Amino acid sequence: MAVTRTFSIIKPDATRRNLTGAVTKMLEEAGLRVVASKRIQMTEDQAKKFYEVHAERPFYGELVDFMTSGPVVVQVLEGEDAVKRNRDVMGATNPADADEGTIRKAFAESIEANSVHGSDSDENAATEIAFFFNDDEIVG
Ligand code: CMP
Repeated sequence: MAVTRTFSIIKPDATRRNLTGAVTKMLEEAGLRVVASKRIQMTEDQAKKFYEVHAERPFYGELVDFMTSGPVVVQVLEGEDAVKRNRDVMGATNPADADEGTIRKAFAESIEANSVHGSDSDENAATEIAFFFNDDEIVG
């Protein structure tokens, strides 16, 4: 299995509750290595662009409001089959459906305040990483 990278966001509901370390610990225990990390306040423009694919969804406005409601931690994660590995440890989008042992089961408050984002494909991971990081900020 190839070592690949994925993109992760620790969302405002988690930073607000001081869960950055707890979430990162679960990522690391799942075999992922944090090769880039920064805590930022996302601007409205950034959030709109990042979630552009959801622009027609009824929850788009609320999603943008939520993602700009407090600091987030954006990260690049590296590991074997990183996209799938990360999505497995994140759990289902809706915490009501998330399995035991997943980040969303442990911490998510709702489908919107669901603590973490993770890329859904290698292609999107590359795009999302480039959206927030320059190459020289990623140290593997
Ligand atoms: P994320 O992986 O960040 O990608 C898009 C986000 O939209 C998703 O996580 C959820 O937090 C959010 N989302 C998905 N469906 C809904 C919904 N029905 N209502 C509110 N937010 C949603």
